[in-house]
Amino acid sequence: MISSEERYDNIPYIRCGRSGLKLPQISLGLWHNFGGVDTFENARAVALRAFDLGITHFDLANNYGPPPGSAEETFGKILERDLKAHRDELVISSKAGYLMWPGPYGEWGSRKNLVASLDQSLKRMGLEYVDIFYSHRPDPETPLEETMGALDQIVRSGKALYAGISSYNPDRTKRAADILRSLGTPCLIHQPSYSMFNRWVEEGLLRLLEEEGIGCIVFSPLAQGLLTDRYLDGIPSDSRAAKPHGFLKPNAITGEKLDRVRKLNALAEARGQKLAQMAIAWVLRHRAVTSALVGASSVTQIEECVAATENLGFTDDELHAIDIILSTSL
Ligand SMILES: NC(=O)c1ccc[n+]([C@@H]2O[C@H](COP(=O)([O-])OP(=O)(O)OC[C@H]3O[C@@H](n4cnc5c(N)ncnc54)[C@H](OP(=O)(O)O)[C@@H]3O)[C@@H](O)[C@H]2O)c1
Repeated sequence: MISSEERYDNIPYIRCGRSGLKLPQISLGLWHNFGGVDTFENARAVALRAFDLGITHFDLANNYGPPPGSAEETFGKILERDLKAHRDELVISSKAGYLMWPGPYGEWGSRKNLVASLDQSLKRMGLEYVDIFYSHRPDPETPLEETMGALDQIVRSGKALYAGISSYNPDRTKRAADILRSLGTPCLIHQPSYSMFNRWVEEGLLRLLEEEGIGCIVFSPLAQGLLTDRYLDGIPSDSRAAKPHGFLKPNAITGEKLDRVRKLNALAEARGQKLAQMAIAWVLRHRAVTSALVGASSVTQIEECVAATENLGFTDDELHAIDIILSTSL
């Protein structure tokens, strides 16, 4: 493939916490739309367009599909066919923690699970190392020292360059950061959910990450597609909510949510933006947020998401109006 010479002129690259690594302000996640059930040529077109627009960071996990593992296989095929020569321009992440194989070692945060799972992921993607490897979710039973020790071991073994954690609360994040620092493998990044419909990170986590010098890549900034114009006239047949394996269920698209979405959509229009673009700009308004991790089912969608960086500023009045729309009981 021939990549655009101008691909690094589109998206700002932001330093990830107090590390040497910069990430694009918009990153692409392969949770949906890249599985064995999806069309390979569409997945390939989306990934290549993303790369061409300056997206250097692609986020995966062992279980993305369906079936689990197939998103890593799809990405491995795209790497082999198209992006092989660009490996050093890419930041590729994977994770372990959710159910991946049967028996007591196929999930959670043991050293056994993390090390074995990463080996499987590397095979599926045809890679020697990933750039970032995450503990995908906190494990209430495994000592945090073991999970963080496994991340440290993985980085030292050369199978990952950096360590990350996902969906850890502030208290556990602080303890994880202290352990990793004491081991000499500082925590690079935290991956929490964050959107206008899900603001839990504002209650302490973002402040902590800034203090600790840990980067933050927020997942599902579009609330899986709800914070776009996708569902304004019903549930389209090609949307996530219409797919049997989609994580967004039709019953989550309530009249109340749609009412707020309509009001937000009007506000976005007044800013000369699509709602998806305003939703991305809104999560990026925090200094602590390094990158917005979006999903996309088409080339047009990823183009629109990247164009969000053309208008990231908000007036106080706009932010206040958004707060009112989100908090008013309907
Ligand atoms: N760490 C974790 O536990 C965790 C959990 C969830 C996700 N993640 C990561 O975060 C990534 C993103 O998650 P997500 O896919 O839920 O993010 P999202 O960006 O909130 O939702 C993506 C969906 O929004 C719709 N969309 C995107 N751009 C659009 C546009 N311009 N106009 C209209 N609709 C648009 C598409 O829906 P349609 O498909 O319906 O077209 C797309 O599939 C995942 O791929 C994964 O890497 C991590």
